[in-house]
Amino acid sequence: MDVLLGLQWGDEGKGKVVDVLAPNYDIVARFQGGPNAGHTLVIDGKKFVLHLIPSGIFHPGKACLIGNGVVLDPVTLRKEIEKLDGIVDDVKDRLLIANRAHLILPSHKLLDAASEQAKGDKKIGSTLRGIGPTYMDKTGRNGLRIGDIPTPDFLEKYQALRHKHETMLEHLYGYEYEIEAAEAEFLDAIEFLKQFTFVNSEHYLYDAYRNGKKVLAEGAQGTLLDIEFGSYPFVTSSNTITAGACVGLGISPHHLNRVFGIFKAYCTRVGSGPFPTELDNEMGEKIRQEGGEFGATTGRPRRTGWLDLPLLKYAVRLNGVTDLIMTKADVLSVLDEIRVCTAYRLPDGSITEEVPFDLAAGVDPVWESMPGWQTDVTAIKDKEKLPAELKDYIQYLEKELEVPLTYLSLGPDREQIIEMREMIAG
Ligand code: GDP
Ligand code: IMO
Ligand code: MG
Repeated sequence: MDVLLGLQWGDEGKGKVVDVLAPNYDIVARFQGGPNAGHTLVIDGKKFVLHLIPSGIFHPGKACLIGNGVVLDPVTLRKEIEKLDGIVDDVKDRLLIANRAHLILPSHKLLDAASEQAKGDKKIGSTLRGIGPTYMDKTGRNGLRIGDIPTPDFLEKYQALRHKHETMLEHLYGYEYEIEAAEAEFLDAIEFLKQFTFVNSEHYLYDAYRNGKKVLAEGAQGTLLDIEFGSYPFVTSSNTITAGACVGLGISPHHLNRVFGIFKAYCTRVGSGPFPTELDNEMGEKIRQEGGEFGATTGRPRRTGWLDLPLLKYAVRLNGVTDLIMTKADVLSVLDEIRVCTAYRLPDGSITEEVPFDLAAGVDPVWESMPGWQTDVTAIKDKEKLPAELKDYIQYLEKELEVPLTYLSLGPDREQIIEMREMIAG
């Protein structure tokens, strides 16, 4: 099994590249996160945003698995499936859902909103899709799972959990809410889901492995949003790193092969939290406009900044990246100078390449500057035709990160990608 995941704060272009790589695999599987993800694919000039469905769905014959580590909102999934009506005909045959995946209830979304409101200016900047509260119920051993849907006491279990949430909303948060309409929509969507195949992903994927099938695990969010190693508490509630793919699908680490680490040629972040290389100025605005940096799930403007090498090295190490993929180098074509943060100056004046415990505690980037390529690269198909400055930028990053770059994406369309070295699926 191969894994593709984000090395930054999400939105690195995972959806686009999974769509490009999918022909090499039999199964594409999501292993964590939920509808907080927004993965954009551009096919024949048409844009599609996927939140829960794996990004292999546009390829006939490929199975798409929503793994046990995912938290699933049936309402979002239903809307997403209905949007594909008339575009992808056999979603019902190819979409599989893990029995052990946890359900996001309407009351989880209310709890997300109540918790953020209570945090005031310390809020995480959550997508408010109910992710945190659902994972809390999972680890708190109260959750409701896909495999509970066909059981006779599903409704009872649902009501017990809703009741617990209502007690919290009223007594802990004093939060005013309306749940009836959302609940009706939720129960309808539960009925709708019954036509899909629920599987034990650990058995399904083991059988696939025994039969020589190739699996690509598709990450959501990014390494710096990992619950354990991200910029805590400004993170999401799941393990976004490679190890999360084993837990989130029921796959042994022995069966992992290649790890594709994807990053933008610069950095973005949506929501609150530290961002050492942030460009909170005109230059940042220029990159935002040029890169179309607005959230695929919430539409919020993304914060922008220069590439941060200490963080990228940290992400490469944590994930055991074997192949790098860089996206959006085309966006930097408008700039005559490109900067990269190579180390941090700490408040005591010392310089380090190590990611500190608290990124927010006044780390000051040490910069390296290099010339921009100032050429439109969006139509280039041959790596030899890349401008020299971009080739130098790539070589510099490969040397610093000690991992080769396998793909270079130069635009949002599935055709705008260059294979830099031979790709063999594992
Ligand atoms: P994901 O969450 O990692 O799948 O990424 P998103 O879809 O949230 O955000 C990436 C955005 O960049 C989307 O609008 C993509 O269409 C777009 N995109 C992906 N790769 C490239 C690229 O190489 N160049 C440009 N200009 N846009 C890209
Ligand atoms: P994809 O898969 C970028 C951010 C939110 C917030 C924090 C916690 O498209 O890369 P949550 O809703 O999980 O409680 O939010 O994480 N966040 C993302 N940022 N891309 C994503 O997904 C994200 N999913 C969550 O903005 O700061
Ligand atoms: Mg996204």
